[in-house]
Amino acid sequence: MSKHAIVVARPMPQAVTDRAAAEFDAVLSDRADLSPDAVLQALVDHKAEGLFFSSNLKLNAEMIGRLPPTVRVAATCSVGFDHIDVAAAKARGLVVTNTPEVLTDCTADLAFTLLLNACRRTWEYTTIMRAGWRQSFGMRDNLGIQASNKTLGIVGFGRIGRAVAQRARGFNMRVLYTDVARVAPELEQGAVFVPSLRELLPQCQIVSLHAPGGAATDKLMNAETIALMPRGAVLVNAARGSLVDEDALIAALQSGQLFSAGLDVFRKEPDFDMRLAELPNVFLTPHVGSATIETRNAMGFRALDNIAAVLGGKPAIDSLWS
Ligand code: 8YV
Repeated sequence: MSKHAIVVARPMPQAVTDRAAAEFDAVLSDRADLSPDAVLQALVDHKAEGLFFSSNLKLNAEMIGRLPPTVRVAATCSVGFDHIDVAAAKARGLVVTNTPEVLTDCTADLAFTLLLNACRRTWEYTTIMRAGWRQSFGMRDNLGIQASNKTLGIVGFGRIGRAVAQRARGFNMRVLYTDVARVAPELEQGAVFVPSLRELLPQCQIVSLHAPGGAATDKLMNAETIALMPRGAVLVNAARGSLVDEDALIAALQSGQLFSAGLDVFRKEPDFDMRLAELPNVFLTPHVGSATIETRNAMGFRALDNIAAVLGGKPAIDSLWS
């Protein structure tokens, strides 16, 4: 039986590439991400039925409109899908899948890394060490904030938010969360639902964002909401940069309204706002929530499983709609 033709739009980990090449008639991008035009050309030339891509490729209405009719499934190698025009995909009859579950722990680990580093001023400490530590700190110098025993507010209590809550329990933190609705009690594991962001924020010394990106959550954290947090609070974002008004964030970090922030995601990526890098009280990572060997392999395999299911005439495992 001939193999199904697919286009892999960006270089993938070797194990994923090997499997794509073994199971499919795959056009692989070995060296660099394919541009949107190159993706479309490859799909046409190859009469491809599947597209394997990631959040760097915007599958907007225009791109969907230009897909050749052979394409039946588009599998994004990400849990987030704010780079996809879901309505346009649905109208076109395109099955679109993502990769939930397999990156939950990895992303929660990174969120907690940001949280601890932001609280404990590690960036400042490592900078001092690398420059050559020659003067001992006094008892009141360069003090951080203890994360243990604090109240943590989680905004968005999906899989990743809940995995962050699980880690927080190990630090004896009190966990409050807000979301569009309360989750089933067995998923709360002691976390307390607060019906609105406005009620949640004043109660939390540390807030971690885990809501999806998109118009509904754009600039959820802005001058007004950041001002609701207690003075000297810490903000963590490993979800999407669009959740935060960065001008307001910078002002709050400069004024002391926020003690610090831990950020993995930015409104503009990769060329993020460099004013953030100039602040000593920000711990920064370059959108690496899922960037471990195990997780990137698992994400790639999950995307391939989805493509194989759809092209094999079965329902997708992770269709964005039922
Ligand atoms: C990926 C992500 O690293 O899953 C997501 O939504 O943002 C990340 O896990 C990213 O999609 C790769 O570009």
